[in-house]
Amino acid sequence: MNDDRREGGPSWSGPVLFYTDAVIDHFTNPRNVGELDEADTDAFARIGDPGCGDEMMLWLRIRDGRIDKVRFRSFGCPGAISTGSMLTVLADGRTVEDAGKFSDDDVVDALGGIPENKKHCSLLGVKALRTALEGYGQAKMVR
Ligand code: FES
Repeated sequence: MNDDRREGGPSWSGPVLFYTDAVIDHFTNPRNVGELDEADTDAFARIGDPGCGDEMMLWLRIRDGRIDKVRFRSFGCPGAISTGSMLTVLADGRTVEDAGKFSDDDVVDALGGIPENKKHCSLLGVKALRTALEGYGQAKMVR
């Protein structure tokens, strides 16, 4: 019998979290990771979660009102990385208007769900997207 839970085996104290295959896929193989150079960056945001210290940075290139390139870096947990990755997949190719309406539920639903106590992680990407798009909108008004 190979069961680490038997007497004398390692033990852990916290809840065991169950992630969907999609979450595991986006955590282990995140899409659109990286940065855009300055010439390609029309919008940028850096968002942190003060509760856990995790952070996400998001770069957008916008052409003709549409997000045509998106990159992210996340210094965070599996929830932050997988939802950040899915957010970039959902945002890529969308109009600025459509992308501005994304909610964390859209990201979580696209991943087939996420453990309840990790739902706050999905906010990082959505907040970064909204902040970047707000900055883009304000910059356009100034031009
Ligand atoms: Fe901090 Fe997931 S625990 S974003």
